[in-house]
Amino acid sequence: MKIGIIGFGTVGTGIYERITSTQRALQQMVSDRIELVSILVKDQSKQRQSEGAKLVTSSWDLFREAATYDVVFEVTNVVEPARTYTESLLAEGVSVVTANKKLVALHGKELEAVALSSGAYYGYDAAVCGAIPIVNVLQSALATTAINGISGILNGTTNFILTEMDSGKTYQQALDEAQRLGYAETDPTSDVEGYDALYKLTLLARLCFGQWVDISAFERQGIGGIEPWHVRVAKENQFALKLVGTSFLQQDGSITGSVKPAFVEETHLLAGVNGVANGVLLQGKDIQQLFFAGPGAGQEATANSAVEDFILHEKGKRLRRTVLSQPASNMPQLQKQLWF
Ligand code: NDP
Ligand code: HSE
Repeated sequence: MKIGIIGFGTVGTGIYERITSTQRALQQMVSDRIELVSILVKDQSKQRQSEGAKLVTSSWDLFREAATYDVVFEVTNVVEPARTYTESLLAEGVSVVTANKKLVALHGKELEAVALSSGAYYGYDAAVCGAIPIVNVLQSALATTAINGISGILNGTTNFILTEMDSGKTYQQALDEAQRLGYAETDPTSDVEGYDALYKLTLLARLCFGQWVDISAFERQGIGGIEPWHVRVAKENQFALKLVGTSFLQQDGSITGSVKPAFVEETHLLAGVNGVANGVLLQGKDIQQLFFAGPGAGQEATANSAVEDFILHEKGKRLRRTVLSQPASNMPQLQKQLWF
């Protein structure tokens, strides 16, 4: 089994380490020899440890043998050339596993179509909520479950910043720390202005409601205007200040969504999601409410999701989700404790 990686930053390095440190167990799972062949990077001058795999800077080095790969992990921080690379690999029948949520949010519809026609797998569990296997759960244990609403804390960096501000740090101190720990995007504007959460929300909406939404159709507001006194006043009044994404299937079949700061009543499940964690609440007629929480960003958390995504696919355990979601009237009022 031949594996490639595109991008060797925080997540790419994590995937390399996860594969090399668990190689024997992975081989037992997939009943094949796993060979990490090459890693495509952009900047030749950076010092990197990649024992056992060839570091390449020309895409030709990876693509001339692309058809011999079984899976390529695409973990760059760019839309192009990542979109072109992904499309070529999928068209050749090579599975691609990605953490690049911006790429999936903007081009997932066309890339999924390419994958469908070639029979390749396009996996993006690592792109949504770090370690939480929400995409895989939606495609396995909840594959035929009707879901009508999503509410979640979908960005680790902003949740970390808000939590740290609650303990007295300034916004800038907390953001610097999130960047140092590898949680933030290369350009943290994507985190703090809510774009990153919006990308993830559209991926969840696609899975839950069966439709790709245009991200411009959803409202977005970040935490750039939040000051320490906002966090303090929230706490004094038994609220937690959180960046919350919500998306609902409306009675007329349309999908609405937003990412905005919200005062969350302290008894609400999302109020207890602190630090770099993410939390996702799904609501549906049969499930009422299901809550998932865990690390939302970081090297190990994301690399683990990417590798598990690949293993689950190899073991043939994934289903195509059949969307039974329909607007229902007897839903628990999830938004009741969220004040935007
Ligand atoms: P980094 O900035 O640490 O790494 C990005 C990598 O992409 C770098 O190694 C860079 O190469 C590489 N790259 C950029 N352009 C190209 C190119 N044209 N060809 C080859 N390689 C390229 O980002 P992260 O590892 O943190 O994030 C990677 C992806 O995973 C992003 O899409 C991010 O949104 C997503 N993600 C990140 C999480 C996290 O916690 N960090 C969690 C979940 C998802 P070079 O090193 O040569 O400059
Ligand atoms: N920058 C993202 C976050 C990484 O902080 O949530 C995980 O997707």
